[in-house]
Amino acid sequence: MFPIKRNRRLRKNNTIRKLVQENNLSPNDFIVPLFIIEGKNKKEKIESMPDYYRYSIDLIKKEVKKLWEIGLKSVLLFVKVDESLKDNKGSEAINHDGLIQRAIKSIKNSVPEMIIISDVALDPYSSYGHDGIVKDGKILNDKTIEILSHMALSHAKCGADIIAPSDMMDGRILAIRKILEKNKFHDTGIMSYSAKYASSLYAPFRNALDSSPGFGDKKTYQLDIHNSNQAINQTINDIREGADIVMIKPGIAYLDIVSQLKSRINTPIACYQVSGEYSMLKAASKLGYLDYESVIYEQLISFKRAGAKLIASYFAKEIAKKL
Ligand code: PBG
Repeated sequence: MFPIKRNRRLRKNNTIRKLVQENNLSPNDFIVPLFIIEGKNKKEKIESMPDYYRYSIDLIKKEVKKLWEIGLKSVLLFVKVDESLKDNKGSEAINHDGLIQRAIKSIKNSVPEMIIISDVALDPYSSYGHDGIVKDGKILNDKTIEILSHMALSHAKCGADIIAPSDMMDGRILAIRKILEKNKFHDTGIMSYSAKYASSLYAPFRNALDSSPGFGDKKTYQLDIHNSNQAINQTINDIREGADIVMIKPGIAYLDIVSQLKSRINTPIACYQVSGEYSMLKAASKLGYLDYESVIYEQLISFKRAGAKLIASYFAKEIAKKL
């Protein structure tokens, strides 16, 4: 008898394909990154990220309402900080009346059910454009996590549901968990960027926030693109330190890490389809080189197949409308 197995039986039409489909995409899977600026009634284009915008707080509230209406459940907040407020101490990062703090409060007030995830790292606030305090050309670990933990606490006080440290310093998850517990924010979650690589795919984001490193690169803290063991170890360690969700970043090029982790941990895994991935697809689509929507769908479903539950994506709104 030949062929012994007719695999095509389960692919013979769309109905049967749907019946055996292992993964799908739902608006519940997405985290929507948002860029916030000072001012009123402002919606600014981001040159490096076509069709993506920076919004002032009044407009971001409207945007978040729209996102909620189309079924999206979480937003990830980033701010663009005025040059005059940047220093090497993270002063503005812990200013209780700072831009992100005000943004968290306003969004929480207008759409209380929306899960607010706030980015915790010093780069948008740093006069050096680094994620930590700089001394003699080096990024100080312990001094940085002290400030990050206060930054996290100030976000929690404003109503952030989940704190997302994206800095890649050692020990920051435990430091943040401790300060949150001590201040009775028992229910504030931590989504750790546990495996964040020193990737060239962040360039459009750094342009959006004006947060490029002023000297050197981020290779002393972000992961080496040649390695996977460190990513696995650090992620397991972050879970031990108290992370509720772990994140792998960037996306498509790092799905091997997602897949390895999926077989080893039971903590929800998030994956970040970063700015460079967004801009590449946008550019190709503007040139008419590919069927943009089906390529986005294919990439997003690959995150699910690899084992991610959550996907942070600049395409979230566009795709969720279609699901
Ligand atoms: C900053 C931060 C970065 C991103 C998220 N948080 C940039 C960086 O580490 O330089 C990148 C996101 C993207 O490219 O979409 N800590």
